[in-house]
Amino acid sequence: NDNPKNMKNAMEKICKIIDKKLDYYNWIGFYMVGKQKDILELGPYIGEPTEHLNIKFGEGICGQAASTEKTFIISDVNKEKNYLSCSEKTKSEIVVPIFNKKGKVVGEIDIDSHKISPFDEKDKQFLEEVSDMIKKQYF
Ligand code: SME
Repeated sequence: NDNPKNMKNAMEKICKIIDKKLDYYNWIGFYMVGKQKDILELGPYIGEPTEHLNIKFGEGICGQAASTEKTFIISDVNKEKNYLSCSEKTKSEIVVPIFNKKGKVVGEIDIDSHKISPFDEKDKQFLEEVSDMIKKQYF
């Protein structure tokens, strides 16, 4: 049950479910650490295509969440200096790391919204539960 193909399917399903449930989640996707341990690679997503297929640890909100191993909630992306823009429509973002059982970052869940400040503790809690589920099942 734990092979990469199943994980990809699971991630695609998670994207679809989240996309249907929450109208202020406008871009939903996964970035995963690949062969190069300091680079995040774009995985399954729903939303506008992004030019950021690879993101270095430390770069943008995604890269910072990976390098600091912390959830980032950005209420207004236009106020951020270290931010990688995908779409003009995006106003805010939440990024939740996915860990393996040793506590290393293996990837993350990235959500963009067209609203300012839509993400709160509940979103954080919910997405951290999803992240934990992926860890338990696949890492
Ligand atoms: N905004 C992200 C880049 C990924 S796109 O949102 C899909 C960042 O600053 O890291």
